[in-house]
Amino acid sequence: MNARIFPTIDELEQVLLEHAYVTDRVLATVLFLTLKLRKPLFLEGEAGVGKTQVAKTLAEVLRTPLIRLQCYEGLDVNSTIYEWNYSRQLLHIRTLEAQSCDITDEVERNLFGEDYLIKRPLLRAIELSEHGTPPVLLIDELDRADEEFEAFLLELLSDFQITIPEIGTLRAAEPPVVIITSNRTREIHDALKRRCIYHWIDFPSLEKEYSIVTLKVPHAPHQMAHQLVEFVQELRRLDLYKLPGVAETLDWAEALVALDARELSLPLVEDTLGLLLKYQDDFELVRRGHAQRLLEQAKQQSMERLLEECPAPSGCD
Ligand SMILES: Nc1ncnc2c1ncn2[C@@H]1O[C@H](COP(=O)(O)OP(=O)(O)OP(=O)(O)O)[C@@H](O)[C@H]1O
Ligand SMILES: [Mg+2]
Repeated sequence: MNARIFPTIDELEQVLLEHAYVTDRVLATVLFLTLKLRKPLFLEGEAGVGKTQVAKTLAEVLRTPLIRLQCYEGLDVNSTIYEWNYSRQLLHIRTLEAQSCDITDEVERNLFGEDYLIKRPLLRAIELSEHGTPPVLLIDELDRADEEFEAFLLELLSDFQITIPEIGTLRAAEPPVVIITSNRTREIHDALKRRCIYHWIDFPSLEKEYSIVTLKVPHAPHQMAHQLVEFVQELRRLDLYKLPGVAETLDWAEALVALDARELSLPLVEDTLGLLLKYQDDFELVRRGHAQRLLEQAKQQSMERLLEECPAPSGCD
């Protein structure tokens, strides 16, 4: 992997687009710098706005393995770095005993060798880097892990090395591309943030979301794609408990296509609102108070856009 394969931000933006990831200028710049400066990237944002996908797409673009560590409370060394395969070690000892063989020092050393080591994501990332293939290391949803893990991560990010007492120290010759994400259910320490480039992924602009929909759900009719994106954008202006992310927009678009819809209607919106909203109170608020107005607005605005795009009566679908 060589960051110089992207001499400009524009080129990186284009390659990401070819791999079905739509960026805006700021995110493209941040990613360009992440690769060029080899600094970890810390991404925060609402749910479903494309944080995890950044890492997946970067791995594709760089043609390098993606190593993912999904964080949760109680994450420890055993689940993040390595653990010994105790059952296999035990089985080996039992076999030796059954054959009346002695447990010599050498046997003991072998029992704590690579064959009996279960490598967890952080160790695999360092190991690959040590062997010249720095992967993309995704540390997903760090806010779910506890603070001890954060402190450990801080150490790892400063020297990219791991010591296994029985084996030795592994050191990444070239650091992996590290992407850390958080949904901000709690604040992450400044010390960790300071080691990273920080970026907040906001809900996308109308243009960006429309590009994502047409890219990811290409069989959605042109007019309906416009309408549904306008609708979601307006929906996000409401005071809802949980606003829909891009993931929900894409799910909705897929559902509408599956129903052979060519444009939005009130019954269609009401019947499929569960793909956008996941809380009963939000659902009721929209259905009773806003659905009709949002729909009319979405249709009007999408019509204006379509006319802007294609003023002549012929030539559009
Ligand atoms: N800019 C984008 N370009 C292309 N696809 C996108 C973009 N943003 C989001 N998506 C799509 O939206 C969906 C959700 O993205 P992703 O899982 O990365 O969100 P997230 O921010 O990690 O959400 P969560 O916080 O719930 O984990 C995926 O299918 C992803 O491909
Ligand atoms: Mg995610």
